[in-house]
Amino acid sequence: MTGRIDIVEMAARDGLQNEKAIIPTADKIALIDQLSDCGFKRIEATSFVSPKWVPQLADGAAVMAGITRGPGISYAALVPNMKGYEAAKAAGVNEVAVFLSASEGFSRANLNCSIAESVERARPVAEAARADGILLRGYVSCVVQCPYDGPVEPCAVARVTGQLLRLGCHEVSLGDTIGRARPTEVAAMLDVVLAVAFPENLAGHFHDTNGLALDNIRVALDHGLTVFDASVGGLGGCPYAPGARGNVDTLAVAGMLAAMGYETGLDVEKLAAAAAFARRIAGKGDIRKRA
Ligand code: HMG
Ligand code: MG
Repeated sequence: MTGRIDIVEMAARDGLQNEKAIIPTADKIALIDQLSDCGFKRIEATSFVSPKWVPQLADGAAVMAGITRGPGISYAALVPNMKGYEAAKAAGVNEVAVFLSASEGFSRANLNCSIAESVERARPVAEAARADGILLRGYVSCVVQCPYDGPVEPCAVARVTGQLLRLGCHEVSLGDTIGRARPTEVAAMLDVVLAVAFPENLAGHFHDTNGLALDNIRVALDHGLTVFDASVGGLGGCPYAPGARGNVDTLAVAGMLAAMGYETGLDVEKLAAAAAFARRIAGKGDIRKRA
């Protein structure tokens, strides 16, 4: 197989939002600057959510102001509402991402509202982003399982995906938020979602709790997806998804894709250095092995 696959780097946002310790702003900036040198075209840098809900990323504006932007790199931030959108716009992000859930339980836990209410909250964000010329991404969480409601029907994922596309999202990232999806379940979900979306408008966002994220990416590749979210050092998790591990490790994804013959444009040595730095600032162990 050949062709280009884009990895959207998540460590600075999904990776750091779930850490108990508050990581210094300077370390976050240093991490993003390292990531900007690895060959990524898209980096999710932070979120502009309530600091009471996610204090770890309360310094989003300072992070955006401090980074050195690489040429041609799009820096994105999560926004749950207009307050977040205005802050992200003022910080000069290239892309905002609204995030919805396919399950009611996670929507309540993560956004304090129903799915229907979250769509209505995203609507003015979408309109403003369109007017301001800022790219809009959408996330659907819990595309296979919800930590509160259990198994999620593929048609619920398709419904929310369709709503996000109609709002104007150029891409909807499908999140296995708790990282427990099996490849057969991902295939069944994608079969249904692909009835409402083209594969080029979808991305895969797999957490890796059960070690099946790479298998799930291969299933998504077979379904025509060409964009995957990943996190250096395998950092990540949502404070409102108990028990979930990090995003699939960027190095592992890049390695698998290279072995399969795909091009990612990533520099593996720089990635490894960024991963070691990310894990160090997050207080995780060094994953390098001595010979
Ligand atoms: P709420 O408490 O219902 O909001 O939370 P509210 O509108 O009643 O406001 C409460 C307070 O928050 C007010 O301040 C607002 O001004 C403030 P107060 O008057 O009490 O001082 N506020 C804000 N402050 C800064 N920025 C904002 C903002 N909005 C309100 N944008 C809300 C509702 C949506 C705000 C809250 O639930 C929230 O922030 N949730 C975000 C949770 C989150 O960030 N989760 C992690 C990201 S999602 C994820 O990780 C999944 C993903 O990776 C994909 C996957 O893996 O599935 C994307
Ligand atoms: Mg996530």
